Amino acid sequence: MLQERIADLSKFVEPDRVRREVYTDPGIFELEMQRIHERVWIYCGHESQVPKAGDYYAVQIGRQPMVMVRGNDGKVHVLYNRCPHRGNLMVGDRYGNAGEFFRCSYHSWTFQHDGRLRSIPMMESGYAGTPYGKEHPDCSMKRAARVENYRGFVFASLAKDGPTLKEFLGESRIAFDDMCDRAPEGEVEIVPNCFRVIQKSNWKIFLENQLDALHPSVTHQSTGRAAHEVEKEIEKKTGHAPLSYHMLSAFATVTIDKWDNFQTLNYPYGHCILTGYMGLRPKDPDTLAYEAVMEKAYGKKRTEEILAVNIHHVLIYPGLSVQSPLQQLRAVRPLGVDRTLTEIWHFRLKGAPEAIYRRSLAYYNLVNSPATLVNADDLENFWKCHQGLASEGGDWVSFARHFGRDVEKNGVVETAPSCGTSEAPMRNQMKAWARYMGNGK
Ligand code: FES
Ligand SMILES: [Fe+2]
Repeated sequence: MLQERIADLSKFVEPDRVRREVYTDPGIFELEMQRIHERVWIYCGHESQVPKAGDYYAVQIGRQPMVMVRGNDGKVHVLYNRCPHRGNLMVGDRYGNAGEFFRCSYHSWTFQHDGRLRSIPMMESGYAGTPYGKEHPDCSMKRAARVENYRGFVFASLAKDGPTLKEFLGESRIAFDDMCDRAPEGEVEIVPNCFRVIQKSNWKIFLENQLDALHPSVTHQSTGRAAHEVEKEIEKKTGHAPLSYHMLSAFATVTIDKWDNFQTLNYPYGHCILTGYMGLRPKDPDTLAYEAVMEKAYGKKRTEEILAVNIHHVLIYPGLSVQSPLQQLRAVRPLGVDRTLTEIWHFRLKGAPEAIYRRSLAYYNLVNSPATLVNADDLENFWKCHQGLASEGGDWVSFARHFGRDVEKNGVVETAPSCGTSEAPMRNQMKAWARYMGNGK
């Protein structure tokens, strides 16, 4: 049954539309986990989440429970969170410190931080005459096939073959470069802990929404308007409203007709960059103080180059959405065909004044947190979309907006001038999806 579906998958995706089963069929979901999430580079976490030897953080990659851990040698490892003895999860907490080594809570097998077997109770007498012991690979915790780090952001791939992390990220590396370059010390540090939201919809609905430039001024209009009213009042009274009001009022002041002025750049592997949106170089004293620190670190010319980068959002398919100018990211962890966990993290720019961190925190709370109306607006759409797609009210999802107008140069699809609301990012994601699902690479 499943084999037949595999053969038919090519019929599910057309250049400008997709069959609804792609979002609702549990068999397709299982295949996606095998062929996409458990093969490609998936973001595990930032190395500052595990600063000391033995520090670990549990993370889900596809259907696999994994654990990211800092070894005694300072290296970050990613292991399957499974004891090779009888399968017990090695760590039950989301994060912690394993001490000198991992110790299984069931029969006390112990392992080095890199997963190698360290000891088994009464190993000599218990296993004499068997092939099992320290040298036997089945007695060690299994490692992710590949682990790489880009500017402190740790990724793992569960497939031994495939592009390197750098090749896979391609131009989307700008997400991490932009974030880190904005730090006077060239590095960021994670803020523990994250918000976790479980949305009742397929994982792809979240990713398609991230660069959907048509939706913000519709979906978030009421939130934007309310903030704009208050912002205007404060401006009238004091002459200047804090930037945090602008973060919300932009949903109303950037009206629907203006979204066509932005641009998306769509890359191989389904990644995408959205340029422009909110101007984030105000002339308030906090920003000026920050710019002075940056100039001291980098010089005037380089500082200008760094601060002139104007991207709002970078989507790294299939599991990451990064907003680098505000030091935020959201990691997508599919839990089931109609359940998706998102982890919402933010970062500190090392060496930057506290006020710049406060700005990031304000955006985190006001726009990305589960408490804000902005997030609630989106979550409601996600659930409603999934409900509609599960119905028999239609077979296709349309991605036809500005179809045929995009400009392709060397494999990069740019939306044409005044076509910022093009559904090119969704078409690009589904093109990558079809390729992964078709040949598993
Ligand atoms: S299951 Fe881990 S030691 Fe037995
Ligand atoms: Fe939204």
